[in-house]
Amino acid sequence: EDPLCEAEQQPKLIVISNRVAAVDSKQPKTGGLAAALEPIVARLGAVWLGSSGEVSDDDAATVQLVPCGEGHVSRLDLPSAHYPGFYRGFANSTLWPAFHSLPDRISGSPQHYDSYREINDFMARAAFNLRDRDAFWVHDYHFLPLADRLHRVGIDRPIGFFLHTPWPAPDTIERVPNHRELMKSMLEYDLLGFQTNRDVNNFLAGLRSHLGLESKDGIVISERGRTRCQKFPIGIDPNQFAEYAAESLANQEEYISSVQKKLGGAKLAIGVDRLDYSKGIENRIKAFNQVFAAEPRSISLLQIAIPSRSEIEEYREYKRNVDSLVSQVNAEHGTDEWSPILYENDAFTQAQLAGLYRAARVCVVTPLQDGMNLVAKEYVAAQDPNDPGVLVLSKFAGAAEDFNDDEALLVDPNRPDEITAAISRAANMPCEERIQRWRPMKDKLEAYTVHDWAADFVRELDKSRITAPADHFRH
Ligand code: G6P
Repeated sequence: EDPLCEAEQQPKLIVISNRVAAVDSKQPKTGGLAAALEPIVARLGAVWLGSSGEVSDDDAATVQLVPCGEGHVSRLDLPSAHYPGFYRGFANSTLWPAFHSLPDRISGSPQHYDSYREINDFMARAAFNLRDRDAFWVHDYHFLPLADRLHRVGIDRPIGFFLHTPWPAPDTIERVPNHRELMKSMLEYDLLGFQTNRDVNNFLAGLRSHLGLESKDGIVISERGRTRCQKFPIGIDPNQFAEYAAESLANQEEYISSVQKKLGGAKLAIGVDRLDYSKGIENRIKAFNQVFAAEPRSISLLQIAIPSRSEIEEYREYKRNVDSLVSQVNAEHGTDEWSPILYENDAFTQAQLAGLYRAARVCVVTPLQDGMNLVAKEYVAAQDPNDPGVLVLSKFAGAAEDFNDDEALLVDPNRPDEITAAISRAANMPCEERIQRWRPMKDKLEAYTVHDWAADFVRELDKSRITAPADHFRH
């Protein structure tokens, strides 16, 4: 049954995020958010507002709609004076490292925060053109204060927010300039969705520490009204992935056999990440280095590492470090017959990835912190039921709240020795145990797909149209 198919009763939605679907929907997808939202917007008939990635001197906020399935996308050129401070600055140099609990990487200036506010204002003005829709669903850390700005321009529909990244502990959020103002503005949302229980609890603990606000059963009452805070763990479309996997093996025989040639009989492990310092790629490669030293030619790593946010120096530096680590390891262990690490810097389409996932005996997902990590879920969905591979998964990825230790091999991403042990255990695991571990993960993916996730969020948001009495919160 299609959880979104009661379309008649569905509220007409506006979806807002910084990154939106690429102009050509067959283009490779490089980030979790846009790939996850595209089928949702397409099926819900939503209007999706976001950035075009281009800037303009005109700050008129005009909306032009382009079809996207049953829905529409509007790609806005954001004001040139503020886009860098917003995107490079406050969003990706202050909030991103803070939200991934990497406070030493936080940087920024007060101007970045001003630009962040300006872009949020701009987006609110753009959304005002669509004020006749039923509800607003805002995504990710680029738009924490947007509900406040939407209310200020006069929008009075339900507004929900979903955070795709983790939310950190109170003493880490404290490192973000203006964190009190930001958290207070988040209470302008009717519904706040997070990936995991840990994120919900961290957020509520932050409200208590920094704003002195108590919550009950995830509900917070502020001067504006009531905000529900809840976990909505994002999923994928597992059937779509299984189909891709079956088809794609056949469609890219050439590439896969070129990979196999380089393996020289070794098993294949795969890692797929944006080149982001939160992804733990360096420790993973150090771990493989140990495996190569102990069991040469037993396994190779296909590391797909997609350059990301390269307008930020920290990201360029991270890429240089990973590149040189890969070269060192290959120089140390590689032979004419065997390439220890196959390193790709291009993005692959989801169909191509699915085929590669299926060909890989092991998938290594070792972020230092991650909101959910959909690679982990896509890998599971793409496996052959009779001969599935093994998932090595960071304890600090949101996916580790869905997949337990009897299923994935959970590791501490800060400890290369733990990753090493898990890789060689995975590579040598008998088929029976692989099936036993894989089956329940696959069942979970089917029980809660990305469509269930969206339907759940929208249903919950729709409920906030009816304001329930809040008396029992007033102590
Ligand atoms: C993460 C974020 C998304 C973002 C994506 C790609 O998944 O949660 O909001 O779109 O990374 O990053 P980019 O900066 O290229 O949009």
